[in-house]
Amino acid sequence: MFEIRKIKPIDTYEIRHRVLRPHQNFEACKYDTDYMEGSFHLGAFYGDKLVSIASFCLEKHPAFPFEKQYRLRAMATLEEYRTKGAGRALVKEAEDIIKGQGINFLWCKGRTSVQGYYKRLGFKPYGEVFDYPPIGPHIIMYKGL
Ligand SMILES: CC(C)(COP(=O)(O)OP(=O)(O)OC[C@H]1O[C@@H](n2cnc3c(N)ncnc32)[C@H](O)[C@@H]1OP(=O)(O)O)[C@@H](O)C(=O)NCCC(=O)NCCS
Repeated sequence: MFEIRKIKPIDTYEIRHRVLRPHQNFEACKYDTDYMEGSFHLGAFYGDKLVSIASFCLEKHPAFPFEKQYRLRAMATLEEYRTKGAGRALVKEAEDIIKGQGINFLWCKGRTSVQGYYKRLGFKPYGEVFDYPPIGPHIIMYKGL
């Protein structure tokens, strides 16, 4: 149903702004990790329309022992296209890319409101819920690949 393609950071900003940071200015949708070495961005397309995005960067969380880890950031699907498998398809494609680099660990700061989504994708929670201003409660979610 969805075609997964690599996209550029600039392609993610509109959905990041609309879905993830509607109350912040557009600049807040540009992340310091967007152009880091190893970073990549995926989009799920329904026809020509970009409906879901996710970004991935090389970042080690100190709680985990693996030297090379990927972090998932800014996962978002447009409201009218949710629960149709776009998010899952993006993460699956990313996992294949990451494993292809010989890296076997993926983590994110997940909003507690969508913890169930990450669990469906095989992520486990780590540690306590924490506040991530100005967005709200988050929890670290992780997955061995
Ligand atoms: C979370 C989000 C990215 C999920 O995207 P999606 O494209 O709807 O996800 P999928 O359709 O691939 O869902 C995969 C599975 O998770 C389930 N799921 C989706 N959203 C869920 C939620 N909020 N809670 C629990 N389960 C959820 C789906 O039903 C599906 O289940 P299945 O295993 O039976 O197939 C989307 O709801 C979203 O953009 N939310 C608002 C932004 C947000 O909170 N992003 C995360 C920031 S950390």
